[in-house]
Amino acid sequence: MTNQKNPREIDLMRAAGKIAAAARVEAGKLITVGATTQSIDQKVHDFIVSQGAIPAFLGYNGYPASVCISINEEVIHGIPSMRRLKEGDVVSIDVGAMKDGYIGDCAATFIAGTGSADSERLIKITTECFYEGLRFARVGHRVSDISRAIQRHAENNGYSVVREYVGHGVGSKIHEPPEVPNFVERPRHKADPRLLPGMTLAIEPMINFGKANIIVLDDKWTVVTADGQISAHYENTVLITQGDPEILTICEDAT
Ligand code: MF3
Ligand code: CO
Repeated sequence: MTNQKNPREIDLMRAAGKIAAAARVEAGKLITVGATTQSIDQKVHDFIVSQGAIPAFLGYNGYPASVCISINEEVIHGIPSMRRLKEGDVVSIDVGAMKDGYIGDCAATFIAGTGSADSERLIKITTECFYEGLRFARVGHRVSDISRAIQRHAENNGYSVVREYVGHGVGSKIHEPPEVPNFVERPRHKADPRLLPGMTLAIEPMINFGKANIIVLDDKWTVVTADGQISAHYENTVLITQGDPEILTICEDAT
């Protein structure tokens, strides 16, 4: 399963990616002290719909919202609620938009108000992890080359990488092959495909300040760090080309 898109599909992926990226920018502007995560979800939902797209997460495996909003020790899949953001909260936003049958998937981590130096640094390194992985998002490499680069950068900086959730192919479905782990297994991950032009991959480091272990809460969605320390997430949908990779979840007002 190579999951390569044809030129028509790539154009649709670009269009979806732009909307997802713009939705991430909108979400970022809404990360303010006192905002409820539900109000953020509602506004981002309305933004996606205003762009002629569909929130790709809404109803996916029964997920009840358009955006995942994960605060502090929450790693991913935080469900929007009446909870109000507090000064210094570390807030990951994950958003997917489907336009004309194709999906852009992206995430970023923001701070409500002013955060600690530890929080700022975790977010910075997590974003850098994505870009370290991106250097290997090229024909001639394998998925594990991306994974290794991400893991190395995180661990070299004293952080740890979540194992239970991974990046993935993305296209007309949110999750397509191949898996794109943020770590390498010895001897080797089950499948470790070569990268081919036309593949569209969601590369998404989930990086913990403390230990790697996670727990899923009783709501069956919210993933939290077992040690209660903060976590950050950064994700883009990326197109493998014959040359440099193309970040599809990018817009003029890019984050
Ligand atoms: N963005 C998530 C991912 O990359 C998908 C969230 S699925 C949802 O895997 F159901 F939680 F929305
Ligand atoms: Co994803």
